[in-house]
Amino acid sequence: MHLPLPLSILGTLALLFLPPSIAQAITPRITPQTKFQYRTNGTWLENLALGPAPSGATTTPTLLVTRMDVPELWSIDVSTGRGEVVASFPNATACMGITPLGQDGVYAVVVGRLRITDIGHPVPGSWGIYEVDLSGGVAGEDEDGDGDEGAVSVRKMADVPEAGWLNGMALFPSGGTGIQARGGEKAGVVLIADSVNGVIWQLDTQTGTYRVALNDTASMAASPTDPLGLGVNGVRVWRGFVYYSTDSVQAVFRVPVRWDDSSQTVRAAGVVETVALGVVVDDFAVAEDGGLYLMAVADNQVVRVTAAGERSVLAGTRESAQVAGCTSGVISRDGRRLFVTTNGGHITPPKGGEEPAKLVEIDL
Ligand SMILES: *[C@@H]1O[C@H](CO)[C@@H](O)[C@H](O)[C@H]1NC(C)=O
Ligand SMILES: *[C@@H]1O[C@H](CO)[C@@H](O)[C@H](O)[C@H]1NC(C)=O
Ligand SMILES: *[C@@H]1O[C@H](CO)[C@@H](O)[C@H](O)[C@H]1NC(C)=O
Repeated sequence: MHLPLPLSILGTLALLFLPPSIAQAITPRITPQTKFQYRTNGTWLENLALGPAPSGATTTPTLLVTRMDVPELWSIDVSTGRGEVVASFPNATACMGITPLGQDGVYAVVVGRLRITDIGHPVPGSWGIYEVDLSGGVAGEDEDGDGDEGAVSVRKMADVPEAGWLNGMALFPSGGTGIQARGGEKAGVVLIADSVNGVIWQLDTQTGTYRVALNDTASMAASPTDPLGLGVNGVRVWRGFVYYSTDSVQAVFRVPVRWDDSSQTVRAAGVVETVALGVVVDDFAVAEDGGLYLMAVADNQVVRVTAAGERSVLAGTRESAQVAGCTSGVISRDGRRLFVTTNGGHITPPKGGEEPAKLVEIDL
């Protein structure tokens, strides 16, 4: 054999003979990149959505992120690392879930009252859903100088006084054809997790009427022994399934659903399945292929669960600040990047202590 070894084999052999710390530095690993970070501790990014689809000359991907320490919605331009407030909400202290509605540039945002130093005690009766319309552009985008920047309109869609703590939210159906195939589509309905009452509400964003859609005590209720009293937390819809995380049972579940025309309700259309057990998950992202990216907020890790159910840590360690206090995730339109919001490790501070909240990007 006179042929030189292929470079890749040489590389592998070299790694075998290096001390472990150096080998680890050379081995390709997932390294989250910080795209935006606040300057002060005690900031908390809670949820996010992809911004309006870039159009015309604009190709910049923006993300819309909600803050839980103040009642503000921010827009972050990941190419420049600039962030700005696009909306703030009256008589509230926190924003939670956000979801795009059917129409491009129009979003629904959960707003209410709680203090991040006392997250087990949100104010019952303080929760509502607002519509934020960014289709007229957001402040700072007035590149042509015609003074039309900041044409953001904000409208309350509904108060939900019966709710204990409205948290994650998703559009139903969202991007899935499965529900239509089952003959049950309904425009403009959002699903919202209530972490105190352990149910998922539905809201008709056109009429403002709301009711309990899904109420499965075993998989959604807060446990009486859980000091934070957190039941169902994150919710996402994927191809006819509602996925949800429930902190008090440290699990993620899914249930097939359909729209029931006679009761005007989203109904379970099958049994609840367990997707992941033994992990406390805040919110999560669902990929096009059904794979999940779970935000293990107290472990400071992003956990991947493939559609086949294989589980691995994608990024972070308990001690590391990389994705410390990860709260939610969303996948880019091309499916190649995962954006993650954090609370800076407020629940389990990483080695070196809590840091300001940030937005990170992970290449998939
Ligand atoms: C502010 O919210 C509280 C509930 O947290 C409610 O009782 C009160 O009526 C609201 N005030 C106004 C002015 O909307
Ligand atoms: C959920 O279901 C349980 C058990 O049937 C019931 O006691 C509870 O009132 C329901 N919760 C809501 C908010 O409807
Ligand atoms: C945040 O808190 C940690 C731990 O107390 C401290 O080490 C760090 O300097 C603080 N960071 C900022 C930006 O204040």
